[in-house]
Amino acid sequence: MNFHCELSLAGIIISMTDLSPARILAIETSCDETACAIVENGRALLSSVVASQMEIHARYGGVYPEVASRQHVLSVTPVVEQALAQAHLTLKDIDAIAVTQGPGLAGSLVVGMNMAKGLALGSGLPLVGVNHLEGHLYSAWVYTADDPVPPEPQFPLMALLVSGGHTELNLMTDHLTYQRLGATLDDAAGEAFDKVARLLELPYPGGPSIQKSAEEGDPRRFNFPRSWMDGTYNFSFSGVKTAVLYETRELKKRSATLPIPDLAASFQQAVVDVLFKKTMEAAREYGAKEILVAGGVSANRALRQTFRAQTEFPVHIPPLSLCTDNAAMIASAGYFRHALGHVSDMNMDVFPTWTLNGL
Ligand code: KG4
Ligand code: ZN
Repeated sequence: MNFHCELSLAGIIISMTDLSPARILAIETSCDETACAIVENGRALLSSVVASQMEIHARYGGVYPEVASRQHVLSVTPVVEQALAQAHLTLKDIDAIAVTQGPGLAGSLVVGMNMAKGLALGSGLPLVGVNHLEGHLYSAWVYTADDPVPPEPQFPLMALLVSGGHTELNLMTDHLTYQRLGATLDDAAGEAFDKVARLLELPYPGGPSIQKSAEEGDPRRFNFPRSWMDGTYNFSFSGVKTAVLYETRELKKRSATLPIPDLAASFQQAVVDVLFKKTMEAAREYGAKEILVAGGVSANRALRQTFRAQTEFPVHIPPLSLCTDNAAMIASAGYFRHALGHVSDMNMDVFPTWTLNGL
């Protein structure tokens, strides 16, 4: 197996690799980012290019699927060329092509899939289909050239995945092994940020806007409900969203100007409290050694600070640039899949509703 092993001695990293480095080129087009990246041995980022369609979708207040797939068609070839150029590599230096197979928008996934198949066919390289959610978790393995090499996550790991479409807690006892302990029963955490931002008339995308506004606000001003979903590791964020709506309506009756920063900060605090406390409970109950937080919402400063400052567990959170959708995370997951012998068929199809635990 081509695992890369590191020993840390008094701050000096000694690397031992049983084979030559494995470089994976990955393509990600599951939603509204066209991305390509090259990662070595599942961890070292050699290049990452993300063509964001954010400005195009902002005028619709959310992702417009038809527009997204057309943009992917326009961007995918230059994005792959840029990723190779940035790493000063050609396809001859690559060992496998990884691609997001799902979940995501069918029309968007197909564009990346066809590009990856074309590259694999043309170069004779193996093709590895990757689950986008698995990719988010593996973003915590990746480090950029600017970072000191962070320690590799150790199993058993309690993994909190918080994105725009998913919120779930998984116990990872080994690479590519997930025991789902709970998930949201309604809105994903990122979806709740986006919806609350819209009702507070903050710009799209909602998560970063709420964070920015919250930085000026008082998180204790409004005591929004926390859904603990007692006795389970499930989540629910529709209650807090509705509470913000009702509070906003009441405030509007009394005053023309809303205390937006206080509303944003109090909402953010309610979401962070639930995500943090439930992850800690699960980590203790299942005897996890370490904690991993990934997905778009893991970019949230309050969430990162809470996880970093308030727990006895070592915590792995990806660098900011790898929290939201990117292809480096797909390359990392693709590396571990490929190292364990997973190779996909050229006839593979996209799985728009794929979960981490199967179809
Ligand atoms: O992982 P991602 O890029 O796409 C999905 O796979 O869904 O996550 C996007 C989500 C959006 O809902 C966005 O509002 C949220 O992540 N997000 C944030 C922040 N940055 C992105 N939420 C809270 N705070 C942020 N700083
Ligand atoms: Zn994502």
